[in-house]
Amino acid sequence: MHTSFLKRAPLFALSLFITLFSFGQPSPAMDTDEDMPKDYLPKEFHAGRRAALREAMPDNSVIVVMAYPTRTFSNDVEYKYHPNPDMYYFSGYKEPHSLLLVFKTEQTDSAGNKYSEILFVQKKNAAAEQWTGKRLGLEGSKTKLGIAMSFNGEDFSNFSVDFSKFDKIIFDRFPVDIPNGRDKADLYDLLQQFKQKAAIPEDYSKEKRFDNRSYREITAKLREIKTPEEMTLIRKAVEISCQGQNEVMKAVRPDMSEMEIQGLHEFVHKKYGAEGVGYGSIIGSGENGCTLHYEENTKTKIGSSMLLMDVGAEYHGYTADVTRTIPAGGKFGEAEKVIYQLVYDAQEAAFKTLKDGSKWADAEKAARDVITDGLVRLGIAKDKAEANKYYPHGLGHHIGMDVHDRGTYSNLKKDMVITIEPGIYIPSNSNCEKKWWGIAVRIEDDARVTEDGYELLSHFAPRKIEDIEKMISQKSALDDFKLPALKSASPEKKAF
Ligand code: GLY
Ligand code: MN
Ligand code: MN
Repeated sequence: MHTSFLKRAPLFALSLFITLFSFGQPSPAMDTDEDMPKDYLPKEFHAGRRAALREAMPDNSVIVVMAYPTRTFSNDVEYKYHPNPDMYYFSGYKEPHSLLLVFKTEQTDSAGNKYSEILFVQKKNAAAEQWTGKRLGLEGSKTKLGIAMSFNGEDFSNFSVDFSKFDKIIFDRFPVDIPNGRDKADLYDLLQQFKQKAAIPEDYSKEKRFDNRSYREITAKLREIKTPEEMTLIRKAVEISCQGQNEVMKAVRPDMSEMEIQGLHEFVHKKYGAEGVGYGSIIGSGENGCTLHYEENTKTKIGSSMLLMDVGAEYHGYTADVTRTIPAGGKFGEAEKVIYQLVYDAQEAAFKTLKDGSKWADAEKAARDVITDGLVRLGIAKDKAEANKYYPHGLGHHIGMDVHDRGTYSNLKKDMVITIEPGIYIPSNSNCEKKWWGIAVRIEDDARVTEDGYELLSHFAPRKIEDIEKMISQKSALDDFKLPALKSASPEKKAF
């Protein structure tokens, strides 16, 4: 007699989970230091950032950093967890359900211990860790992150912190988390307990003691200036992203799909050890490039028109943001060349303004003037307002732990890392000659502001028309990569 499907289902689910999770997790025997990357941010980096935070905090204040919530992807499956960059920046802790308190001045507990920060972490739990991976736990937090006052999240409810003595309690907007009945120390519980301990009213916006405006200001001023340790990781993320662009330029063929191009970029990133991407990869062929954050990437043949690729590798928590727009057929057409050159010139004009002390607005204006003048000269736009429709976004932003990283956006300062990314997007049926329709070009580079100029971090991928065409003409290792045709019925049944 055979077992019914219903009886087998739990067994099937179990084996599926074992398959899904056991292959992704290193077994204890494998988990030696030699198997792990050696270039994570050291605990001294995070300690240094907390010291800088204390320096920037107002007198008699405490700042509370909250983890990001986890999110459901599918039944029994969660989205890959991305830590709140502030939690990672100030502590190095990368797991959910955690809370960090940083005090302006040293505190003393009832046993006479002195401390300036407290971290509440996920408790070690062998059963949970068998499914979803190892937790750092209390001891790991003390030894690996160097935070002596680390506690399990479940200890927060009985932990005595006298919030009433602080003139300012500084925190970001509360993340929305849903209660999880099984876990009594998840993020939801930690937030409830914090609100209760600090007596934070429902509408706290009118009370000056509860301050989430200065949270963003203080953290922006710190995070917008990159330290040498951060620069090492950003440089790597950017170079990896450029190598992804280069490999795709060499491998690209008009019969490829947008998804396949995305896969090539992300394969190269992972080959170099980048854990993921800092945002959804944007692979827009032809008119799809006009959708600024086009992430569907569903077109099955890119054809030989322009291909806009905005892809950023995330390496140890830092993301690049690099866009190249290339002729998928190998050579730029005449109209494509004209638009591309205009965007290139706008980018160059913006670069020229960059240096310590210059203004974002100056770079913005320099690029926009070139594009406006060019579009009017070409008869594509009649005036500035119409030109702006073809260039509907800002010139750039900070990058770092977030792709749109926190920053004050006034004066540029040495060691800020920013994107410069002008673009022109001309959808079909635009009010201009038909030869321009469907052309979308963005060129996006990552630059570090220096004392007297800038350092182009993304110089590894070509930007000039002739250099791009030359890169496309090169042979690729992927030219000979063939997969068998699928046997199951499909309209796309073909050899690759
Ligand atoms: N990749 C998103 C952006 O360029 O801002
Ligand atoms: Mn960008
Ligand atoms: Mn981008």
